[in-house]
Amino acid sequence: MIDNQALEKAMRRALALAATPGVPLGPNPRVGCVLLAPDGSEIAEGFHRGAGTPHAEAAALAEAGDAAQGATAVVTLEPCNHTGRTGPCAQALIEAGVERVVFAQPDPNPLAAGGAQTLKAAGVQVEMGLLEREARALNRTWTFAMEHGRPFVTWKFATTLDGRSAAADGTSRWVSSVAARRDTHRLRGECDVMLVGTNTVAVDDPQLTVRDELDVPLQHQPLRAVMGLRDLDPAKRVFDAAAETVQLRTQDPVAALDDLHRRGRQHVFLEGGPTLAAAFLEAGLVDEIVTYVAPMLLGAGKNAVGDLGITTIADALHLQITDVATVGTGPDANVRITLRRA
Ligand SMILES: NC(=O)c1ccc[n+]([C@@H]2O[C@H](COP(=O)([O-])OP(=O)(O)OC[C@H]3O[C@@H](n4cnc5c(N)ncnc54)[C@H](OP(=O)(O)O)[C@@H]3O)[C@@H](O)[C@H]2O)c1
Repeated sequence: MIDNQALEKAMRRALALAATPGVPLGPNPRVGCVLLAPDGSEIAEGFHRGAGTPHAEAAALAEAGDAAQGATAVVTLEPCNHTGRTGPCAQALIEAGVERVVFAQPDPNPLAAGGAQTLKAAGVQVEMGLLEREARALNRTWTFAMEHGRPFVTWKFATTLDGRSAAADGTSRWVSSVAARRDTHRLRGECDVMLVGTNTVAVDDPQLTVRDELDVPLQHQPLRAVMGLRDLDPAKRVFDAAAETVQLRTQDPVAALDDLHRRGRQHVFLEGGPTLAAAFLEAGLVDEIVTYVAPMLLGAGKNAVGDLGITTIADALHLQITDVATVGTGPDANVRITLRRA
């Protein structure tokens, strides 16, 4: 019997495989798998490289060949039970003669769940929950989208020290520093939608693409989404050929997220402006906030967030800081604060 220490080591390896840099983000979760022989030695390993490619278990089984007979499979996610673009992994593990499956996270996808039951019914020994927290963190927005039936929403905004997002005359370039904008491109690259209100497009004409050099080359530009009812000038940069763009002709955040969820999107990077951000906050649909605070004062100007309907301190929206970092140095320094709802 393989001891717990060896299983944990294999699971850590499986998690590292799943997190291989450059694995395309897409509708699928990141998954890693390690196959162990009965004496605890590693036989094979695999990870999922993106939609349409073999699942982690299938990749490891292919590498193992006949050696999979009697093996223990250590997987970061419950083996799937459904036939998508590839066959069900639970069945593949059974057919390969795997005797024991240890997985970290139960599959929250209602379409794919049930793998553990299938394995047990075929006499495979199944254990779950080893390093589950780490596995959930690896696919945090995918897990969220599966569990809540909508994308995870990160609201990002740049603000002066006195809470202004633009000057009194409407000019806002630039509140954030060069380093903060580069950092924003990195965060944009981790999302699959960038969302703004129609007025930000009308006033700022942003291109809304991931441009700056990233550590890992970007596989796909996120979808650009513009929310609001008015018609926009088709010559705006957001409608150029650099990425796909959709206009969500609604003012209802629930309807907008529902539309994006139906398009298979899991992580919305809400980039404003203040009116749209307020609508999402009021609807309770902001899951994370990333703000860049510039060492700059305007005194007057546009508030970083629109009216939330709060008139007394007892009703303030409380947030919890999860991270504080300085981005850039010297005059280029901004403070990045990451928060979630208290
Ligand atoms: N500092 C920053 O991080 C940052 C980021 C973005 C923008 N900005 C600045 O913000 C300014 C634009 O701000 P903004 O607040 O006017 O722009 P916005 O939030 O981008 O757009 C507001 C428009 O969105 C539409 N909309 C969609 N859903 C809505 C809802 N639930 N409630 C209300 N309106 C909804 C409405 O237009 P329809 O009539 O089309 O429905 C509304 O007029 C610019 O000066 C820009 O520079 C700053």
